[in-house]
Amino acid sequence: MKVALQEERKILIRRAAIEKRVRQVALEITRDFKGERVHVIGVLKGACIFLSDLVREINLETSIDFIAVSSYGRGKDSSGQVRLLKDLDSSIAGLNVIIVEDILDTGITLTYLLRILRQRKPKSLRVAALLDKPSRRVKPVKGDYVGFTIPNVFVVGYGLDYAERYRNLKDVCVLKLPTE
Ligand code: IMP
Ligand code: MG
Repeated sequence: MKVALQEERKILIRRAAIEKRVRQVALEITRDFKGERVHVIGVLKGACIFLSDLVREINLETSIDFIAVSSYGRGKDSSGQVRLLKDLDSSIAGLNVIIVEDILDTGITLTYLLRILRQRKPKSLRVAALLDKPSRRVKPVKGDYVGFTIPNVFVVGYGLDYAERYRNLKDVCVLKLPTE
């Protein structure tokens, strides 16, 4: 008998819950920076969907830039090393910077980003992350704005990938591989 090997997906956070929470996070940011401009930096590629929904709910003068780093190989495990793949287009000196991440996992990526961006003298530097897996932390970092705290499961969807797949799913899903 031939058994098809399938990657199983189960919805963890539904699209309606994501939409509601993104609006709340944007409202918090809008309140915190009342009367000021924010410069939102998306960490490619995982944060692109979260960022695009988030900025449209922020009611402030807003500018956007992107940075790309790689900390993961093709699979689920971090290499523990961060490499800058694409730098920002413009200076952040004197700006209220909000780094937008898809997920805080070990914290290695964010520790690296905070270090290199702090050196560039922003007026303020905060972090917004859609998801947080605090149980996996290796480096002591925290998000200022966190959408959802989740257990130690591997998730895909709403920007998050497994080997570049599933970023387009509207819900955040737990991915179970056939080997697990
Ligand atoms: P960290 O450096 O370990 O905090 O890893 C952060 C990056 O790892 C995120 O921006 C994601 O791209 C990736 N990552 C961590 N956990 C997951 C997950 O559960 N699903 C998909 N990508 C993940
Ligand atoms: Mg990834």
